[in-house]
Amino acid sequence: MDKAYQKLIDGNRLYALSKKFDDPEYFKKLSLGQKPDYLWIGCSDSRVPANEVTSTESGEMFVHRNIANVVVHTDFNLMSVLEYAVTVLEVKHIIVCGHFGCGGVRAAMGSGSFGLVDNWLRNIKDVYFKHRAELDAITDEDKRADRLTELNVIEQVRNLAKTKIVQAAWSQGKKIEIHGWVYGLNNGLITELNVSHEEKDDIESIYRYKIDK
Ligand code: CO
Repeated sequence: MDKAYQKLIDGNRLYALSKKFDDPEYFKKLSLGQKPDYLWIGCSDSRVPANEVTSTESGEMFVHRNIANVVVHTDFNLMSVLEYAVTVLEVKHIIVCGHFGCGGVRAAMGSGSFGLVDNWLRNIKDVYFKHRAELDAITDEDKRADRLTELNVIEQVRNLAKTKIVQAAWSQGKKIEIHGWVYGLNNGLITELNVSHEEKDDIESIYRYKIDK
């Protein structure tokens, strides 16, 4: 039997011991409840672990990850996470974090088909199509992929602002900021993109809902 997974169980024992060593009450406090200030929407890529790359602790960040950090308004999984984060946890910041070298973004740029994920990545093909003039003008393929990675994050930030969940929270006076970031696999650094939304007026009127307060 392959016991390679045993390192995970051993790693867990080490984790629990070291946390308790630093603070005997650590798990007792965590078990009382969570009140994270941040919702992280990132890529499933194993090299972009949300807590690790932000040096945050358990309890600080509510996390949703999918292939290429896409926000789709018919995705019940993400929408459930978003609604819970906004209405119950009352997070103050929502972060969409993409990453350079994203296989999903790269796949969306090409014409290969990989199964079910093709349908998921169609959303990124749509981002490409929307920005095709800018992207087609970039001759270097890696640079074009990097720019599509950024544009994908920017569009997903906008998709969040287009949801009724976020707009209703803004109408109720909740301060929620949505940020777009990109993480560099080659240097471990996060870059903030010049896109953030904190009110309904930041998006085109066709996407604004009329909300009774
Ligand atoms: Co990725």
